[in-house]
Amino acid sequence: MSSAPSSTYSAVTLTVNGEKHTLTVDHRTTLLDALRERLDLTGTKKGCDQGQCGACTVLVDGRRNVSCLQLAVAAEGREITTIEGVAEGDRLHPVQEAFLELDGYQCGYCTPGQICSAIAVIEEHAAGWPSAATDDLRPEAGPPPLTPEEIRERMSGNLCRCGAYVSIVQAVARAAADRSAAKEAVA
Ligand code: FES
Ligand code: FES
Repeated sequence: MSSAPSSTYSAVTLTVNGEKHTLTVDHRTTLLDALRERLDLTGTKKGCDQGQCGACTVLVDGRRNVSCLQLAVAAEGREITTIEGVAEGDRLHPVQEAFLELDGYQCGYCTPGQICSAIAVIEEHAAGWPSAATDDLRPEAGPPPLTPEEIRERMSGNLCRCGAYVSIVQAVARAAADRSAAKEAVA
């Protein structure tokens, strides 16, 4: 099979974890397959391959996306962050630290997706986005308390076959509280 651009193949430049990669891909290639099979970024996991489990969650322009439902060619020009890119050098992301400290995993297969989702959830909540679990939707009510119910609802797109949900909710709550404390300290 030719790898040259054709009516079914295109060259695409993906920006992943701050690095640009130019690939020639079949137009049907998902972002998930491009990351795993072409760029060797196997931290992002394939579970259902149909948008149901969240194992393939990555950040696209800071928002969570299931990469199995996004075509690689549609990701050109976007900033993609995978689990390999969330730490800063040797310093783990606070959400990674919280998952480690509170055992937010068992086998670990769902964990990269859980962590990418949790990073976005915490930012969405801090920005005041409501969820289906939010009672008071008036803008003046501000962000709802990040209760376990809120976290479970906001993280409900990420399934864990090991059932580590109790620890996952605790880890997300810990990371969110640490983020708030850090913001208050610099305010
Ligand atoms: S592999 Fe993408 S949602 Fe399951
Ligand atoms: S830790 Fe095993 S699937 Fe979630």
